[in-house]
Amino acid sequence: MGEKENIQPKKGSIFFGSVHPVKLLLAPMQDVTDLAFWRLLERYGGADAYVTEYIRVYPGSRIDRDIERDILENNTGKPVIAQIAGEDPMNLERIVRELQLLPVAGIDLNLGCPAKVVCRKRVGGALLKDLLRVELILRTLREAVIVPLSVKCRPGYENAESFDELLKLFSDYKVDWVTVHGRTVRQGYAGKADWNWVYRAAERLDCPVCGNGDLSDPQECVRLLREEKCGGLMIGRGAVRNPWIFQQIREALRGEQINYPTGRQMLEYLFELEEMTAQVEKSRGELAHVERIKKFLNFIGLGIGNEFLYQVRRVRTRLEMESVWKNWLDHTEELKLIPIEQNQGKN
Ligand SMILES: Cc1cc2nc3c(=O)[nH]c(=O)nc-3n(C[C@H](O)[C@H](O)[C@H](O)COP(=O)(O)O)c2cc1C
Repeated sequence: MGEKENIQPKKGSIFFGSVHPVKLLLAPMQDVTDLAFWRLLERYGGADAYVTEYIRVYPGSRIDRDIERDILENNTGKPVIAQIAGEDPMNLERIVRELQLLPVAGIDLNLGCPAKVVCRKRVGGALLKDLLRVELILRTLREAVIVPLSVKCRPGYENAESFDELLKLFSDYKVDWVTVHGRTVRQGYAGKADWNWVYRAAERLDCPVCGNGDLSDPQECVRLLREEKCGGLMIGRGAVRNPWIFQQIREALRGEQINYPTGRQMLEYLFELEEMTAQVEKSRGELAHVERIKKFLNFIGLGIGNEFLYQVRRVRTRLEMESVWKNWLDHTEELKLIPIEQNQGKN
């Protein structure tokens, strides 16, 4: 476990050469958080920075075309961090050198993805089973990466036994900042994220630590930032469900009253999502379009209610879908958008 004494809470923010610290990041979510979604979020205040979906790196791989376009065409005015997922140091080095010719503000190494297709290849979260390889990768990246280098990790694969060892590697190779999602890889997205792993990383590392996992309540986010254990917060599903969340956190940080959306404002957001996905899916027909929106609705529905979720999961046409939306959301009551399992009568 290494040096137990000398543990000091480490503070500080994440910077990308700008004067404004980056505190609130949108978590990368494959097939969800592309440039179109970043742009949509900007209408609601947006995050301080965006992380691309992971770029899979293997022998002979190229930078994913769509992600490259997102980076090149990013007009959000916010920094973009390119995330890479791979297991071979030489190929990772090749890709980060290419990435750094693009307007990326940082490079982030994926050490947490639990998807079976990824883990089977010993990439993402599966790397946590092989810390020697993590060390080789970090050594290579530390030399090749001139923009801020970060990692996004979980506390371990099966359990968190080697977490301190992992943190020591981040220290040794002077990673610029670290995101911790408090579930093991084995857990996937089940159960609740254990934020004690975020705090532990923040205590043991000199660099800023960004906390991630199940964030949905702006007041709670403020508490986490104020405790100063977190240099930043990264929000994924909570931001799809509630695109106002970054703005709500800023309002709460300024001591202002938090603006919660009404049902009708939520309805407007859903129509904007529909328009956004229509542009991407225009060639693939109505059912493909509806299925694409369901990816978002699966997260959003949790903030509205079980019956809404049940109904939207069963629709097959745009008209049916819009009719469910209107039945549930054509009202002026405020929505807190806390997901069902965390919602103790707050909505
Ligand atoms: C559909 C989906 C896709 C994801 N894709 C990625 C990814 O490409 N890279 C990554 O590091 N994490 C990925 N994640 C994990 C999220 O970034 C985040 O760590 C996780 O959802 C927990 O945060 P949340 O509770 O705020 O959503 C994905 C998660 C989901 C649900």
